[in-house]
Amino acid sequence: MRVETLTVGLGDRSYTIRGGSGILGGIGAVCRELGLGRLAAVVTNTTVGPLYYGPVAESLAEAGFSPFRVEIPDGEEFKNSATLNAIYDLLIAGGLTRDSFIVALGGGVVGDMAGFAAATYLRGIPFVQVPTTLLAQVDSSVGGKTGINHPRGKNLIGAFYQPQAVIIDVETLSTLPEREYLAGMSEVVKYGVVLDRELFGEVERSVAPLLARDRSVLTRIIMGCCAIKASVVEKDEREAGLRAVLNYGHTLGHAVETLAGYGTFLHGEAVAIGMVQAAKLAEHRGEATAADTERLRALLASLKLPVELPVFAAQEYREVLLRDKKARDAGLSFILNKGIGDFSIVRLQDLSEVLAVCGIGG
Ligand SMILES: NC(=O)c1ccc[n+]([C@@H]2O[C@H](COP(=O)([O-])OP(=O)(O)OC[C@H]3O[C@@H](n4cnc5c(N)ncnc54)[C@H](O)[C@@H]3O)[C@@H](O)[C@H]2O)c1
Ligand SMILES: [Zn+2]
Repeated sequence: MRVETLTVGLGDRSYTIRGGSGILGGIGAVCRELGLGRLAAVVTNTTVGPLYYGPVAESLAEAGFSPFRVEIPDGEEFKNSATLNAIYDLLIAGGLTRDSFIVALGGGVVGDMAGFAAATYLRGIPFVQVPTTLLAQVDSSVGGKTGINHPRGKNLIGAFYQPQAVIIDVETLSTLPEREYLAGMSEVVKYGVVLDRELFGEVERSVAPLLARDRSVLTRIIMGCCAIKASVVEKDEREAGLRAVLNYGHTLGHAVETLAGYGTFLHGEAVAIGMVQAAKLAEHRGEATAADTERLRALLASLKLPVELPVFAAQEYREVLLRDKKARDAGLSFILNKGIGDFSIVRLQDLSEVLAVCGIGG
């Protein structure tokens, strides 16, 4: 069992990310090393719990902890205050005190909610992220953004709150549905396009093993993504600037998600479409070449991700893109790739250029 490690350096909020295959059983030892308290609330959901609570609880118990299970329903629609309250109820019923801790075992929904519960319960108790989706392993479990949705918008309620450790067992990806897995690949590609040419090339060369979920290739690539995210977060923990680069492809991606109706496209699928449009804009502005755009499109397509912008009227795109007041007043800030592996940020005062470049007419 080879474990790769890297550190997210945030002063007294620093922590280690551990990645490998079959390392779930090592969680107890990691928590003991961290000196965490005896009681551990393992927050998971009704899909992930039956698969992975057992080995996690066993490892914790072997290391001298007393784990108990907090299970929430599965789905983004449950990422709300009602579920959060249900979590608090179970933490209180379980007798969780300030020297106890939470383990977030699941995808981004569980991680965001369990993290926010940890940030707020008794004004904050330690938590450990055990992400089990590709998206959570390369993105949501690292960086300390936690929260829940509000009826008026996604992730409107939350806190920056860093975990004590992140434990990434790529073996858990073996049970992930194909579509979820591939959607996570979209975020992997994103890191490459705007921040790391080497990683982009490595993903290009690894399409076959990635499609086969080869564990050693996955470990290397996932840890590469985590290293990139860590360095971005180290420079801009609270998203005052640089961290926005991670929203590459997300502006149009979110518009596509909204217009098509939530659930039609998975987040990563919409981001794949958004990235290709951002690349076209970069090409139009002379920041990238047609060959760069084609490289990106071809890679996403080989990972079976959608790349074509769905057809909606220009007016509909305008409305969703300019929905927030800041965008209407100050213009839309847009991340472009500079070739492959670098980025620039532009502010678009009006949307005609992007709509024309993306072929959105009418
Ligand atoms: N905090 C951040 O920085 C950040 C970043 C990006 C996204 N997010 C959030 O992450 C969420 C999306 O996360 P997600 O894509 O992981 O979705 P998810 O948590 O809903 O997981 C997707 C599906 O896979 C299932 N699943 C999880 N692990 C599994 C496994 N190993 N085997 C089988 N099934 C498994 C889940 O139960 C769920 O049905 C969104 O709420 C988004 O806002 C947060
Ligand atoms: Zn995303």
